[in-house]
Amino acid sequence: MKVYLETMGCQMNALDSELVASMLRSGGFELTADDRAADALLYNTCSVRQHAEDKVHSRLGWACRRKADGKPILIGVLGCMAQRLGDQLLKRHRGLDVVCGPGQLAHLPEMIRQAAEAAQLRLDGDRGAPADLDALETLDRQRPAADESRLPGQAYLRIMRGCDKFCTYCVVPYVRGREISRAPDAIVEEARRLADAGVTQITLLGQTVNSYRFAAGETAVGLADLLCRLDGIAGLRRLRFITSYPAGFDRAILEAMRDLPTVCEYLHIPAQSGSDAVLAAMGRRYSRAEYDALIDDARGTVPGIAVAGDFIVGFPGETEEDHRASADLIRRSGYKNSFIFKYSPRPGTRADDRLADDIPDDVKRRRNRQLLAVQEEVSLAANRDMVGGTFEVLVEGPSVRSRKQPAPAPEGHVQLTGRTRTDHIVVFPGPPDLAGQYVDVIITRATALALTGET
Ligand code: SAH
Ligand code: SF4
Ligand code: F3S
Repeated sequence: MKVYLETMGCQMNALDSELVASMLRSGGFELTADDRAADALLYNTCSVRQHAEDKVHSRLGWACRRKADGKPILIGVLGCMAQRLGDQLLKRHRGLDVVCGPGQLAHLPEMIRQAAEAAQLRLDGDRGAPADLDALETLDRQRPAADESRLPGQAYLRIMRGCDKFCTYCVVPYVRGREISRAPDAIVEEARRLADAGVTQITLLGQTVNSYRFAAGETAVGLADLLCRLDGIAGLRRLRFITSYPAGFDRAILEAMRDLPTVCEYLHIPAQSGSDAVLAAMGRRYSRAEYDALIDDARGTVPGIAVAGDFIVGFPGETEEDHRASADLIRRSGYKNSFIFKYSPRPGTRADDRLADDIPDDVKRRRNRQLLAVQEEVSLAANRDMVGGTFEVLVEGPSVRSRKQPAPAPEGHVQLTGRTRTDHIVVFPGPPDLAGQYVDVIITRATALALTGET
């Protein structure tokens, strides 16, 4: 059976897809990148904004029409949307066979087999069922150390599941469950296996990764301790961790970033808003002043640190003054980049239950544009300051543009893209076999989005 697997959503989903693909392969399925040639179509989905869900509904519409036209395909929805909507999905998309939330992924091959055998057997694997945590942990522990789908030399490593913060707008705690930290020994072992297989950059994943805490008898292991243990692994050159939550941020993490050679000088720490009134309505557990102090501390402790953020514009009740406070926060924090989203009401969240989505879409769009423009200014100024400097770049491979349309370059060279320790994107000419290698690149030009350089 040929399976097409498409991934939407965050890094957690990307990692889940990697595990699903390897599980399917070892279960005798073949993976294909061609959705028209596949016998099974699987979508690993995201629920964080309505837009993400709409995209999946349209994919499912297409897939179900093909099936109704007589193509014998199996259709499955995995991930957060499967968890959020469950049998509602089966009602809306009549050709759908398998619905498997993130807590049940370990059972997916079995579900696909059952659905294929009993044509029209509709499996709703997750609604009501608690996440099968032991099976999920086993899946993480048994993951193959090498995987073709990853960028060369890079891997994600999950250190936590779920989220307990319950920001009022957010669906993640409902679809990913309670916050659980994985055992440090299992994490270190996994990192060691990855490093032995040639991985040099590991990105630790958690929805609020700095909340990592594993109790071991009298003591507890936090993120800073974990970074210390991982830093010693032979072969590892870079450790990153995403995403950080601004409250309860242990200074020891900043010190680890300053002192440990592998820990990259990069912090993704979403503020969501620069206004205290909006932060309170969002249920974020810090004030603007506390956020500002944390950024100052990070900059004061870690020389050369790059900071990235997320913002939501048009949260219920957001005034022009609140909006200006967010713009001001972008300037003050000097983010390397930020992701800016229009508020999207999610059914079942506290914000949706209690607050009217009262900011018109054109206002949300304007505020989105305005924050993007401020961020662009800030990014451009900071990137220009890097021109003339030399930075270590981990090469990802040929840039998208050079894959489509090779630019004129010296013999055998293409435009390569890679990232600095601070997560800045660098484009430079070089041979394609540099992918996965570290090279020093002199920066010659800067835009708001990327740096250009030469070796
Ligand atoms: N756990 C991470 C990221 C969660 S989702 C964190 O807390 O930082 C990624 C981003 O999506 C969030 O940071 C937020 O900016 C955005 N987001 C979450 N729910 C949203 C919603 N209902 N509408 C618009 N954006 C949302
Ligand atoms: Fe969502 Fe808030 Fe948890 Fe992030 S911290 S995943 S925004 S509930
Ligand atoms: Fe989306 Fe689920 Fe990640 S809702 S952002 S894919 S945890």
